[in-house]
Amino acid sequence: MAIVTSKEMFAKAYNGGYAIGAFNVNNMEIIQGITEAAIEEKAPLILQVSSGARKYAKHVYLMKLIEAAIEDAEQTAGFDLPIVVHLDHGDSFELCKSCIDGGFSSVMIDKSGLPIEENIKITKQVVEYAHDHGVVVEAELGTLAGVEDEVKVKAEDSSYTRPEDVQHFVEATGCDSLAIAIGTSHGAYKFTAAQCTRNEKGILVPPPLRFDILDEVSKRLPGFPIVLHGSSSVPQEYVKMINDNGGKMPDAVGIPEEQLRQAARGAVCKINIDSDLRLAMTGTIRQYFNEHPDHFDPRQYLKPARANIKELVKHKLVDVLGCAGKAQ
Ligand code: G3H
Ligand code: 13P
Ligand code: ZN
Repeated sequence: MAIVTSKEMFAKAYNGGYAIGAFNVNNMEIIQGITEAAIEEKAPLILQVSSGARKYAKHVYLMKLIEAAIEDAEQTAGFDLPIVVHLDHGDSFELCKSCIDGGFSSVMIDKSGLPIEENIKITKQVVEYAHDHGVVVEAELGTLAGVEDEVKVKAEDSSYTRPEDVQHFVEATGCDSLAIAIGTSHGAYKFTAAQCTRNEKGILVPPPLRFDILDEVSKRLPGFPIVLHGSSSVPQEYVKMINDNGGKMPDAVGIPEEQLRQAARGAVCKINIDSDLRLAMTGTIRQYFNEHPDHFDPRQYLKPARANIKELVKHKLVDVLGCAGKAQ
């Protein structure tokens, strides 16, 4: 199987009450960890590339690595691994066009920071070009809080999606899926201590997602695929591993997995996960360095990091997204 669009994947996910995992990729070990998990769990997959990742690794390297993963799945596991290659948070028509021309099967145009009519204008332009080339488009309404390389939104500048806007936006743009803001947030510090309560172990408990907004959006867009960004759960065992091995990540907190599972049962067909992969990789490498101060071969510490990414992704596919076995 070659690279596919998300059209059929989302239709099946919507009707089947599960979501597809969209994992951010930057290098070979991350791509291998994720794809090996998807092969073992027979799960459909979205690999997404941010503009920062594209600058870091170069478009051609990432494309060739993903093509290699598809070929490897066929040759070593005899499995047709369906993969969507997606641009994450495209910020201009030119960037989207370059990814479409370079073989991506899906792009996101994120103009959620602009007034809605300006968002519509640029999104529509991307949709027209993408559809002419057999590529699908994700757009965004509402603004998530959080900080990552090229996506920086202060909590006070974030805003929930207004359900009364979604029908007009989708009809006017022709987009294929819609990312909405219902309380998720990018990065490993999704909420301040002041926004949370603490459980008996002193761990921060975030405010619940706004399922009322999700319900209202899905009523207004029946059958239409919804996307959640900022959906890492920030596993506390990896935060501890980082902190126990020289790191400093106080009060890092994510979205509880049972809430993501609940969203996946409804209209949410794509759930974005990046920070959890970063935490698994960094925690594993920090611990390895502490335990083996004399080692200096990158393969020695990248191997367990890749293995832990694979385990983490398997857990997400089976227990959170519910998409294991859905690629058969
Ligand atoms: O939402 C953003 C993604 O997690 C990518 O982050 O721009 O640091 O690669 P990045
Ligand atoms: P996290 O930072 O929660 O992993 O979100 C990733 C994301 O939304 C990528 O677009
Ligand atoms: Zn995002």
